[in-house]
Amino acid sequence: MNTPVRNTTAHWKALERQHHLAPFTDYKALAGEGDARIITKAEGVWLTDSEGKTLLDGMAGLWCVNVGYGHKRLADVAWRQMQELPYYNTFFKTAHPPVAELSQKLAQITPKGLNHAFYGTSGSEANDTMVRLVKRYWNILGKVEKKIIIGRQYGYHGSTMAATSLGGFLGMHKMSDLPLPGFLHVDAPYQWQFGRPGETPEAFGLRAAKSLEDKILELGPERVAAFIGEPIQGAGGVIIPPSTYWPEIQRICRKYDVLLVADEVICGFGRTGNWFGSDTLGIEPDLMPMAKGLTSGYLPLSALMVGDRVANVMIEQGGEFFHGYTYDGHPVSCAVALANIQLIEELGLVEQAGKDTGPYLQQCLHQALDGHPLVGEIRGVGLIGAVELNLPKGVEKRGEGTGKLGGAVRNAIMEQGAIMRACWDTMVFSPPLIITRAEIDVLVARLKAAVDQVQKQGFMN
Ligand SMILES: Cc1ncc(COP(=O)(O)O)c(C=O)c1O
Repeated sequence: MNTPVRNTTAHWKALERQHHLAPFTDYKALAGEGDARIITKAEGVWLTDSEGKTLLDGMAGLWCVNVGYGHKRLADVAWRQMQELPYYNTFFKTAHPPVAELSQKLAQITPKGLNHAFYGTSGSEANDTMVRLVKRYWNILGKVEKKIIIGRQYGYHGSTMAATSLGGFLGMHKMSDLPLPGFLHVDAPYQWQFGRPGETPEAFGLRAAKSLEDKILELGPERVAAFIGEPIQGAGGVIIPPSTYWPEIQRICRKYDVLLVADEVICGFGRTGNWFGSDTLGIEPDLMPMAKGLTSGYLPLSALMVGDRVANVMIEQGGEFFHGYTYDGHPVSCAVALANIQLIEELGLVEQAGKDTGPYLQQCLHQALDGHPLVGEIRGVGLIGAVELNLPKGVEKRGEGTGKLGGAVRNAIMEQGAIMRACWDTMVFSPPLIITRAEIDVLVARLKAAVDQVQKQGFMN
């Protein structure tokens, strides 16, 4: 067998095939289709693969590169911090300047009352910490029956055993005998799939929220510890709830003394046109997991923001909390997170996503795709959104056999030179917040060309 020449696409693909089990990948299908794409560099909103082809990254990596690629300032901060203090743990009453300064900054920019941060390296870890902390909180207060945590269908909160249990992806559950005991799910506020004919968004939002109240009453409020939801469900297909939904969820949580967790891993750091999705949707959470945009993906870091109600009990009555990860509050990641937040502020990216490029992207999508036979609904807030593809008549929206149309459009966009993701047959986008109007024109033109191409190939209603 010929060994591919080192530092060539063939060489990297051979190593990948032989030694890497990549996440969320069907290994057999990948081997059948050919090989993984090898990405070698990136600048701004543009990725370059090992063959020199450029791709407009309509997903900001995995919804995370909010400031875009190639900011030398973030690399310089990491380089300096690595020389000053590359690592020290934050266990056993120890801290360092980057972790202290970042914690103060996060308390300043998050909604009122979230004043303490507990760190990790991924969104999944932040959610695992949340589960342990919620149980600890109710145990300290002597409400030891409050153990059940309620999530939602199509919710995504990560891939560890607890985070997968919080999420509402049946395929993920089935694969690993999940959810764990004590994790239950209620309806998603997803009108495209679950709305009734003639139902207004407001009425639908209240009906979706009622599924939480019904579940709490069925279980007994004394057994329900917390409810978790993403302000806008990202990986579930950018499900944007009607305006009535979150206020009603909040009322229900307050009424039955259930902690409210807003998972901001995707919605945080400007994505929805405010610092946090909770600001955009009027949520006042008790706990807020965050990751991704916290460092714009330049280094791994997550935080669980803890509201005063919970933090004060942990501090004043808790004793030692036996929980932590070696890299909690890693100094280099914290220094980069601080510099990343400063960059978001200096570049005005939150305002831009809310008032300029966000609305422009939504407007361009409507202009290009409204009325297209393959397009059912276009929705978005700030620089996150979705295009629902119309399935042939009679095909249920999400079930066995769906996802092929979305996959075809995703592949066609890739051929056009842009990246969007397909959640079943929902095309989702979340580009870097630095995307310009001219780049938005390119992204939308490539999406339109891809949708036209797939339609011509025979995916018709
Ligand atoms: C809302 C939400 N929560 C948690 C996670 C898990 O984050 P990580 O992949 O960093 O573990 C994700 C990842 O996409 C997410 O979208």
